[in-house]
Amino acid sequence: MFADIPESTKPDMTVPESLQLELERRIIDPTQFSADRSAFVDIDLPRSSGKTSFSFIGAGVTQNEEATTNIVEPHGFCVGAAGLQPGMVNNAHLHYTAEVFVCLSGQWKMMVGRYNEQVLSIGPGDIFSVPTWVFRSFENVGSDEGFLFTFLGGDDPGGIIWSPDVLREARATGLVLNETEKVVRLADLSNGERTLLPLSEEVAARVESYSDDEIASRLIRFDSRRWQDGALLSSMIGPNTVEVAPVIGTGLNQHRRAFSEILYPHGFSVNWIRLAAGSSLGLHRLAVPAVLLTMFSEVEVEFGEDELVRKRVVPGSVVSLPAGTWRNIRTSGVDPAEIIVAVLGDGRVPIAWAPDVQRLARQNGFTVDAGGCIAETALVDRQFGRP
Ligand SMILES: [Fe+2]
Repeated sequence: MFADIPESTKPDMTVPESLQLELERRIIDPTQFSADRSAFVDIDLPRSSGKTSFSFIGAGVTQNEEATTNIVEPHGFCVGAAGLQPGMVNNAHLHYTAEVFVCLSGQWKMMVGRYNEQVLSIGPGDIFSVPTWVFRSFENVGSDEGFLFTFLGGDDPGGIIWSPDVLREARATGLVLNETEKVVRLADLSNGERTLLPLSEEVAARVESYSDDEIASRLIRFDSRRWQDGALLSSMIGPNTVEVAPVIGTGLNQHRRAFSEILYPHGFSVNWIRLAAGSSLGLHRLAVPAVLLTMFSEVEVEFGEDELVRKRVVPGSVVSLPAGTWRNIRTSGVDPAEIIVAVLGDGRVPIAWAPDVQRLARQNGFTVDAGGCIAETALVDRQFGRP
């Protein structure tokens, strides 16, 4: 039943003591969000005072010694968020690994380059991947509190490099970074303790810049998503209706003509998945970790192979989907659902479908070929007869 996953990467088959508890532990709904108002050195700048940061999966790049993380288990990438009131700014910094913003709410001005060489507006449902090694900052330009989910590449993204202006301004507010790059008050420094120096102008000038077209191509707007039908075996079981709108990499997509809106390697894939009312993703498991963002939809998540446990998950939640666990995602009530699933790795991820999904799809004439793509059984199944 793990036929398409190499022996060496088969996950631990141990069934958790209580699958229900395991499921509940992995659902982070907005009531469990822990706002960190001291995550970064720029928190006392008047334009940034009160900004909140969140570490849901993996610690990310927080500079707060006492930051809390909902799930510390490594997923191969980190999931966090920023929450800003209208007019607040998150200041210019850069990352070594991918940083992808998924807008849950608010209207945002996203600025790329130390001198804001590119400025883009994003709103709810828009996904923007900023290249590595370029300064980025953002401002809530709407009239309500805004919330941006962030995916960061790697279990340890390696911290951030601040624009030198930001470090100088922060120092004027009395905040600096110590030798472990945690935020400390100048007044609390011990004698002789060293602090992080801003990059020199000469070095900062060597940080990369990008063209307008390159930056624009990394924004996938909510209203310009391109949906693919027949991209998951479960969509071949009528009347189950599942569609995939690719965003980053390939990930959960079994369409032979799967495309990626954003092709640059991120180390993880991101896809929108749309379930018609009453439909489900289909019982399956992966050999790699994945993360679900419920975004604007309420769904039901099920864990288990024969005996399923189930929990309703409200909009705006983050759900850790561990490697090796059988699971399904269903619509809740009478509404359709549009969710985001991120999976470790850039390429097409092998999906182990439950025997029932395989059987029902086969009844409709479809299977998965050796390349991991949906194919007609009439073409895949060789027919033999006497000459
Ligand atoms: Fe960032």
